[in-house]
Amino acid sequence: MWVDDEHYRSLWVADDSWTIEIIDQTRLPHEFMIVSLVTLEHAIHAIKTMQVRGAPLIGITAAYGIGMAMRVDSSDAALESAIARLQATRPTASNLAWALEEMRQRLAPLQPEERINAAYRRARELVDHDIMTCKSIGAHGVELIRDIAKRKDGKPVNILTHCNAGWLATIDWGTALSPIYRAYEDEIPVHVWVDETRPRNQGAALTAWELGKHGIEHTVIVDNAGGHLMQLGLVDICIVGTDRTTAGGDVCNKIGTYLKALAAHDNGVPFFVALPSSTIDWSLESGADIPIEQRGSEEVSHVYGLTDDGAVGRVDVVAPGSEVVNPAFDVTPRHLVTGLITEQGICGASREELTKLFPVQAG
Ligand code: MRU
Repeated sequence: MWVDDEHYRSLWVADDSWTIEIIDQTRLPHEFMIVSLVTLEHAIHAIKTMQVRGAPLIGITAAYGIGMAMRVDSSDAALESAIARLQATRPTASNLAWALEEMRQRLAPLQPEERINAAYRRARELVDHDIMTCKSIGAHGVELIRDIAKRKDGKPVNILTHCNAGWLATIDWGTALSPIYRAYEDEIPVHVWVDETRPRNQGAALTAWELGKHGIEHTVIVDNAGGHLMQLGLVDICIVGTDRTTAGGDVCNKIGTYLKALAAHDNGVPFFVALPSSTIDWSLESGADIPIEQRGSEEVSHVYGLTDDGAVGRVDVVAPGSEVVNPAFDVTPRHLVTGLITEQGICGASREELTKLFPVQAG
């Protein structure tokens, strides 16, 4: 999407055809820094430290990480070791396991010397697939926004989103933000309520940044404001992303998503979840079985930002000696989800409905 007047993707291949360049998302919104990934260790570091984050982008970065590993050693053992190391970077998002399995299926049957080029080719296909998928999510999801706009008499449709499920979390377009970008293209007036999304502030730092750079009207709110705005009738629809959706329709997303879904349910606000099918874990029925990433306590105890003297720094916001816990995701049960916006269309949050859209994957 657009950053001022330039078109960017969250990740691309450099001119040497091997190096992967990423926008370092730990530096946004105050610094726009491009980082080069050359080795498997670089790819692992980028995912673990969240220089790249968001379920689909984690998967694609891991796919290129396999290519980087193959350049050093393309044996069977090296392939399996790279897959295992990348898989261990972050536990919750399905797309990581999905992308690594795609790489294994393509590379394992080949001779070792064929694997380097094949890995980069397959990763490139996954990039193209991600862009097409996200674009389709936008094409389906925009119809929900268009329907609401018909009742709004020219006033903007107010959409609440949580965390960052925009182009920074994918390659381009995003998932939850894709219908919003499409609405903007179609000249449907929209306004986005952006949850700040503590502890890492992906909403305030990333969603607000990408919407702002694209020229989309938005307002950042604290995480606890959503319910109040819904009571006042100021939210027409919630659209969020997901890191793993079970075959039964339970949705795992950034911590705090569940509370938004509860508030939406109580206030009759439609709550939609946008996802590529690579996010569906067909092996799980219940969201209770999804592994929830536990992240470091410093993400809760400290906040990063721009200080008044123009330096980027972090400050401690927790009383000394207090215990801190930091679960990164929560599960929204299917009965709170109005619908799932996928690349194949919109469906209810249930095995039956998902199976209608994805009969092959559902088996
Ligand atoms: O911890 P993060 O920043 O990787 O979490 C990202 C999210 O929770 C997104 O909502 C999710 O990955 C969907 S992205 C299209």
